[in-house]
Amino acid sequence: GSGLHAKFVAKGKQFWGSCADSALLNKPSNVAILRSDFGQVTPENSMKWDSLQPNRGTFNFGNADTLVNWAVSNGKLIRGHTLVWHSQLPGWVQGINDRSTLTSVINTHIATAAGRWAGKIHAVSHWDVVNECLNEDGTMRQSVFFNVLGESFVTLAFQAARAADSTAKLYINDYNLDYNNAKTQGIVALTRRVNANGKLIDGIGTQMHLEAGGVTGVLAALTALAGADVDVAITELDIKGAASNDYVTVVRACLQTPRCLAITTWGVSDVDSWRASNTPLLFDSNYRPKAAYNAVISALS
Ligand code: G3I
Repeated sequence: GSGLHAKFVAKGKQFWGSCADSALLNKPSNVAILRSDFGQVTPENSMKWDSLQPNRGTFNFGNADTLVNWAVSNGKLIRGHTLVWHSQLPGWVQGINDRSTLTSVINTHIATAAGRWAGKIHAVSHWDVVNECLNEDGTMRQSVFFNVLGESFVTLAFQAARAADSTAKLYINDYNLDYNNAKTQGIVALTRRVNANGKLIDGIGTQMHLEAGGVTGVLAALTALAGADVDVAITELDIKGAASNDYVTVVRACLQTPRCLAITTWGVSDVDSWRASNTPLLFDSNYRPKAAYNAVISALS
């Protein structure tokens, strides 16, 4: 094949993906590019807690099922995103203040969500189990999860995810892991602590929402993350300005890091990006490939 995903796989990697959701699956230009160039999809919003379980015990699977069914029928892998995150978290969860209730609520949410799509061959290949749980200095972020349960909520969540889906690769995911900085060292240390008594975390996801030129530390960061003895995935890549050399630097850094398995860009076209004014993606507002796309294809050829 000649698309991004096929060329990346030919280099020994697992996949090149994009985020998507039902609205983006109704745009024919977007869908054509997902089919030709991408091997994996991440639900941009439909698997977040406020989408899946807005009220206790009331699960809405419609939009997430739409994405999963599209992926399965089009032969695309899926990264589930995300089970435990302090953001997009309904008020009824944020208000819980006792350990046994919160433990039960986390277990039910993960068993129901991760359980729903478990066992579909090549369906959910990765899950972002815990998202954005660290501060910039590498300490644990304040959240209802940390405040009520302490760091143990991370282990709890990974145990619940493993029980619900025994085949998915389980990831801890965060942003600003773009240099070998305190936060990068913090997630490595946390991963080692959680895995000390048996491997629960399979991989670290680095979101990589980058600024123009902010790529100089990426290789060192990927190397440091792999030092936790887990896989690494670039899970939400976009780069302000999308300069060709910035994209190529990131791709080369992943190619040079054996445990960097996959890249997911956070959208196809600039027009659909959460940071559209930064024009950070590989396809322009008319769904035409940009110079950065051609440069990445060359770097993979
Ligand atoms: O669905 C409602 C719609 O009914 C309403 O009319 C509209 C009015 O604002 O809002 C719609 O919801 C928005 C949703 O995107 C769907 O478009 C939310 O307000 C908006 O906050 C939400 O933004 C998402 C953001 O996460 C917040 O969770 C972005 O699409 C999504 O790209 C972004 O993705 C995150 C990753 O999950 C985690 N890492 C950072 C990344 C960027 O923030």
